Amino acid sequence: MTGASFPQTRPRRLRQTPALRGLARETDLLPRHLVLPAFVREGIAEPAPISSMPGVVQHTIESLRRTAATAAEAGVSGLMLFGVPAVRDAVGSGADDPDGILNVATAAVAAEVGDALVVQTDLCLDEFTDHGHCGVLDARGAIDNDATLERYTAMALAQARAGSALLGLSGMMDGQVDAIRRALDAEGFTDVLLLGYAAKYASAFYGPFREAVDSQLQGDRRTYQLDPGNRREGVREAVIDEAEGADVVMVKPAMAFLDVLREVRDAVSVPVWAYQVSGEYAMIEAAAGHGWIDRRAAILESLLSIRRAGADAVLTYAAIEAAGWIRAGR
Ligand code: PBG
Repeated sequence: MTGASFPQTRPRRLRQTPALRGLARETDLLPRHLVLPAFVREGIAEPAPISSMPGVVQHTIESLRRTAATAAEAGVSGLMLFGVPAVRDAVGSGADDPDGILNVATAAVAAEVGDALVVQTDLCLDEFTDHGHCGVLDARGAIDNDATLERYTAMALAQARAGSALLGLSGMMDGQVDAIRRALDAEGFTDVLLLGYAAKYASAFYGPFREAVDSQLQGDRRTYQLDPGNRREGVREAVIDEAEGADVVMVKPAMAFLDVLREVRDAVSVPVWAYQVSGEYAMIEAAAGHGWIDRRAAILESLLSIRRAGADAVLTYAAIEAAGWIRAGR
């Protein structure tokens, strides 16, 4: 028995009652730690289910407004919006069009919830381009980093004008935080926050998301997203984003990169968020759907793990449900 020769060494003493375990618990998961990602699709009359993400839909603007209100009532802190346009082109024109679906939906949600939720927008071209890449392409078909930054700054201004409080820079172009911060400040949007998707890996766990946004992508994103084998590089990206002025940095996906999350947390002083991505959600849903794991317990444990690894907040498709469970004390 552990502690036989050291009678004082009995870690189990701390686990005897719920109250003691409460005192000994190191990590909390509260509704305020959660952000709900949500999809809004142009030109649909009813919410459209996403088959690879049970319980998640492509919203109409109306159903998105209702979901935003529900999230606020549940105590969730934020909503991260993704737009699914009806028409796409090579440069993603819908992204910075004030009448584009994401900008219209942002204004509607901001009007609905005011400051009760932090209204956030994904700032990336992939949903809006006909080739599905996060940037614009040069004559050879390669991503043109600096031409993409010009598109991103236009998109940032459109989102800020629509009422987004926080822009999620998920495109992984070099210099994006710096370029967008300067563009916003020049137009007086000094209060709009920037979330740098610092350590965003080229991951298989984005699979269901590609259905959710009707992604047109052929090939992969390995010239801009990180190699899953690289931990130091993830930390480096986070340090660069902080230096460029990111208010928050992201690690994504979460569960397969908890080591990166911990190191990033230790390396920067801004808040660090993590994104429990579509494939992480889908895995839990699939196993729970077979009766192989307890869905509620698995979701809460996964979110707690992400908090324990160092996330100050977590983006999760289960945000509203999880907040409800936490509040009910289950
Ligand atoms: C890119 C983007 C992606 C996700 C969020 N923003 C997908 C990608 O890089 O292909 C994935 C989110 C998820 O899987 O839940 N704009």
